[in-house]
Amino acid sequence: MKTISIAIDGPSGAGKSTLARSLSAKLGYLYVDTGALYRTIGYYVFTKGIDPKNEAAVQAVLPDIQVEMTYGEDGLQHMLLNGQDVTKEIRLPEISMYASAVSAHPPVRAFLLEMQRELARKNNVLMDGRDIGTVVLPDAQVKVFLTAAPEARAQRRVLELEQRGTPEPFEKVLADIQKRDWDDSHRPTAPLKQAEDATLLDTTELTFAESEAALLKIIEEKAGQ
Ligand code: DC
Repeated sequence: MKTISIAIDGPSGAGKSTLARSLSAKLGYLYVDTGALYRTIGYYVFTKGIDPKNEAAVQAVLPDIQVEMTYGEDGLQHMLLNGQDVTKEIRLPEISMYASAVSAHPPVRAFLLEMQRELARKNNVLMDGRDIGTVVLPDAQVKVFLTAAPEARAQRRVLELEQRGTPEPFEKVLADIQKRDWDDSHRPTAPLKQAEDATLLDTTELTFAESEAALLKIIEEKAGQ
């Protein structure tokens, strides 16, 4: 069976996961949140007290890590770390920086690459991340680079954190987003960047419904070709 792959890349907080989850349900595609994979490694490194920037130290523990992805009855992607469900833990704000730091190491990226490709070989996927269109699935039929101004992304994140009961000030959230943007797009291996053949979608001025409609239009146009 020839599968269809939709790659959605972009910086944190651009709305990738919310939009991708909603659209994959509508299209009947498997939604793969690849950031959760890096978060799972970041979480392991955090629990072991390892400096996430120390590539040799992180590489040394990779053989001890088993990462699995399952889809719960809720239809949501759950992450298993050595058999333990860490879906909630990997969303803690401090894990974002750990995920970003470990994701810069080539051995970590190599460790997770095949798993992502295998999912796309077996399923129609809507995969979101930073390097899906450029590295993981360069032959994806649809590639979208989803972005928004840092202030708009920070504002959305502030609301999300408030709703989750873990509020944080706007200035801190904005500074974290700017640091992560810089780190993710300036690392030498698989940096965050728009693939040449990706369609740019800037959601700064768009509501969720408008962003979803715009994304669906791009997908329909490209997948229909
Ligand atoms: O999408 P997210 O915020 O959950 O991702 C967490 C970190 O993982 C992000 O800062 C960069 C990294 N990441 C990556 O390097 N490549 C991906 N395909 C997805 C995420």
